[in-house]
Amino acid sequence: MNIKKIALAIMLGLTVPALSWAGKGPEWLKKAVFYQIYPSTYMDSNGDGMGDLNGITSRLDYIKSIGVNVIWLNPIYVSGWTDGGYDIIDYYKVDPRFGTNTDLVNLVNEAHKRGFKVVLDLVAGHTSNRCPWFLQSAEADANQHYSNYYVWTNTISQQDKDEIVKRHQEAHPEASFTGRYVEANAPRAKYYLKNFFESQPALNYGFYNIDPNSPWEEPMDAAGPMRTREELKNIMAFWISKGADGFRVDMAHSLVKNDPQKIGVTKLWKEMRDWYDTNYPEHVLIAEWSNPAIALPAGFSIDFFIHFGIKGYPSLFFAKNTPHHQDDYDQCYFNLDGKGQLKQFMDNYIDAYNKTKDIGYISLPTSNHDFQRPNVGTRNTLQQLEVAMTFFLTQPGCPFIYYGDEIAMKYIPNLPNKEGSMDRSGTRTPMQWSSGATAGFSTCTPDKLYLPVDTENGKITVESEEKDPKSMLNFVRDMLKLRLATNALGNEGEWKMLSDVNKPYPLVYQRTDGNETYVVAINPSGKKVQAAIDSENAGKNVKVIRSVGKGTYRSGSKSDQISLDAVSAVIFKVK
Ligand code: NOJ
Repeated sequence: MNIKKIALAIMLGLTVPALSWAGKGPEWLKKAVFYQIYPSTYMDSNGDGMGDLNGITSRLDYIKSIGVNVIWLNPIYVSGWTDGGYDIIDYYKVDPRFGTNTDLVNLVNEAHKRGFKVVLDLVAGHTSNRCPWFLQSAEADANQHYSNYYVWTNTISQQDKDEIVKRHQEAHPEASFTGRYVEANAPRAKYYLKNFFESQPALNYGFYNIDPNSPWEEPMDAAGPMRTREELKNIMAFWISKGADGFRVDMAHSLVKNDPQKIGVTKLWKEMRDWYDTNYPEHVLIAEWSNPAIALPAGFSIDFFIHFGIKGYPSLFFAKNTPHHQDDYDQCYFNLDGKGQLKQFMDNYIDAYNKTKDIGYISLPTSNHDFQRPNVGTRNTLQQLEVAMTFFLTQPGCPFIYYGDEIAMKYIPNLPNKEGSMDRSGTRTPMQWSSGATAGFSTCTPDKLYLPVDTENGKITVESEEKDPKSMLNFVRDMLKLRLATNALGNEGEWKMLSDVNKPYPLVYQRTDGNETYVVAINPSGKKVQAAIDSENAGKNVKVIRSVGKGTYRSGSKSDQISLDAVSAVIFKVK
């Protein structure tokens, strides 16, 4: 419900639905902690080597025990499987590999019974090139229902042609982001516009700046783009009617073309949010945009800050010689050698946080299906990983834990490409439940697994970590209990940097809700470090309430001195 409608409802003395709370989305987001599941590899219930919905349903009690309360499922729809399910053939049907629509309804019902919300993936920007809509649009007759769901042309610029050539010289042209057009030589026209891989033709939401030399570019309000937009609403309404509590919108920034300032796509999402608030005020819209200062004003309640978009996340976590490391820094921050920097991340994070804290939430996920897990390369000890986890679980906004990170599963390098995964395979391996050749993921033989499993001799499994009070699993459970019981450390608590971004070790920040104040100090390096912080806490007493390794806080009259042992993270409560 939008503000105008709420005002009208109040004037008319009607009950206002629980709602669009301060524009941030549904109220439950205040305490939301998400758990992301990659369905192909979470739990196989029928022994075919492929994870499925009934498998997930059978593990809901475990998921509950972690302390999370929202589940996000990567795409579960009928797919061409050239991009891990992000190339959809039928938006209204669960892929048979995962089960049926009824299985999804059952999963959602069982999840709701246990107090979870369930969020689905909405692949809004493109379909599979095997989707019947696309096949119809490729036909010569351009006046059919789906004809203008896509963008077709017989002429493209020389630059676009050069990019097609360049793409075809790459090692995997079929799984390359290079270029905009695909040469299809279809009855309809020679080229279509793609959104990601070649197999993912872009859905037509129109162009913001129409290039007069490209007459096939339609404005956003043309009949084709408007019809596509209605379809998107239908898809959302359909899954909401099956019980879904919202959507994570894939490549949310990408829908409107020739829109460098994102003005057109912002307009589109604002309209969607209005529709959503009117009809589904208890449901959430989450952006995959990685630019919260744009995505949240556009109408999303949450945006990720991840490996693309505004810079910084990789500089924290992606070490040299691991996938996605970027060349503009030598080492990542969460690394033993203590040679990382914070500035790139903090400059962008502080700016995004200050611009958005009153309108939505930023999420810094522990990892996801597109990039490496925290347990990668030389960041591989329990203590190092707990330091990183302390950082993730003491940030404001909504935490997202990627399945398996709660038990510190490893990113496994050099695995085969699976359904367009490329170097993402290592982060999509089967969940490690127990000892044995398939780590309890499936009853199949290991050669039938979707991707190889890291058995780790049964060490990194739910079964073994359940028994060990000092395991990552029990650490995460404790941190989430603390977070959910402590508003200052939770989604809504204010966040403020206390240490100097130019002296990166340790990283010290403050969380407060006005009543309680906490100081969190993080030192991923292998050296003992110190910081003097000049804050309103100076001179106050503090006590350690949680710690990985050891740290001390000495109050002075003007500034306070924090000392941290090598590889440590401490949460101090200010009294
Ligand atoms: C982002 C998704 O997270 C990724 O897995 C996918 O390949 C692209 N979008 C294209 O849909």
